[in-house]
Amino acid sequence: MIRDALLWASTNPLLAQRLPRYAFVRRATKRFLAGETLDEALNEAARLADSSITGTTTLLGEDLASEEEADEVVEHYLGALKSISERGLDVEISIKPTQLGLDFSVDRTQERLDRLIAAASAPVWIDMEDSKHVDATLELFTSALAEKKDVGLCLQSYLHRTRGDLEQLLPLDPSIRLVKGAYNEPDSVAYPKKGDVDQNFVRLTKMLLRARSDGGKGRPVIGTHDPRMVGETTRLAYELNLKKGSYEFAMLHGIDRAQQGRLARGGHAMRVLLSYGPSWFPWYMRRLAERPANVLFVMKQLLR
Ligand code: FDA
Repeated sequence: MIRDALLWASTNPLLAQRLPRYAFVRRATKRFLAGETLDEALNEAARLADSSITGTTTLLGEDLASEEEADEVVEHYLGALKSISERGLDVEISIKPTQLGLDFSVDRTQERLDRLIAAASAPVWIDMEDSKHVDATLELFTSALAEKKDVGLCLQSYLHRTRGDLEQLLPLDPSIRLVKGAYNEPDSVAYPKKGDVDQNFVRLTKMLLRARSDGGKGRPVIGTHDPRMVGETTRLAYELNLKKGSYEFAMLHGIDRAQQGRLARGGHAMRVLLSYGPSWFPWYMRRLAERPANVLFVMKQLLR
């Protein structure tokens, strides 16, 4: 029930407008947000670099009102790429297709994506949003891959279709970030039971790691905080004789820092997603929905 309420709140524009105005709400969000500005996110990336943890930054925001807003997002990311390069950080960017205008035009979204890819010196990652955007997002990704562009894609293990999508993508040597999935989806498109989502996650991880051990050039990035998934990944990698560094772990900023540090110290490639921006409300609600303990954590912050 809590999860449904939080996911409902994540889509409520009135709450998104009102709640972030309160200082006590902003205080409570600090644990997961890298900051409201790019500079704050990059400062955090520089701090993590001291622990051999690399970064991915993402500007929060969704449901754009116009194509002009999508152009502003591109300008923002072009500036971000410049700052990353000036500061010499190992930080990649990850974008939400709807922020580049996917709801308006696939072609113009592709053009905007191409501008970012051309300006970046590392892969540009494409987030996966809710299921109604999957086809168009795959189209963006495969078009970019067909032109040998440096790009990576997020896939979600909660979707029934993902196994088939991955089978189709693997011959293209793709860089894939695998996650469980964070949106409220009907049973017809997503596994309702966590056990099935986890089982599929392991199955898809196996497909990604096997492709890598068979000589694939794409980067398998395993995006999870779940210690069981992390354990399964290292076990599969060992079985396949894959060296640390030929696959990667990715986690969200502020979640299970101990595990992040442990993996990095153990020689694993560990990348943390640093989310920033003023439009953080829907994203934050989804993070709370993932784990009831987070709601308790926020309540404590609010009462403090
Ligand atoms: P799961 O939710 O099963 O949790 C397992 C355990 O991990 C928990 O018991 C707890 O110990 C820990 N944990 C998980 N979430 C936590 C939290 N919020 N706070 C504290 N502890 C927590 N989704 C999407 O739909 N599209 C996308 O593009 C992305 N991109 C993305 C990038 C990266 C780098 C990550 C790590 C995640 C995403 N996600 C995402 C989110 C993803 O789909 C998923 O919702 C979260 O990663 C939580 O799932 P876990 O695999 O961590 O496991």
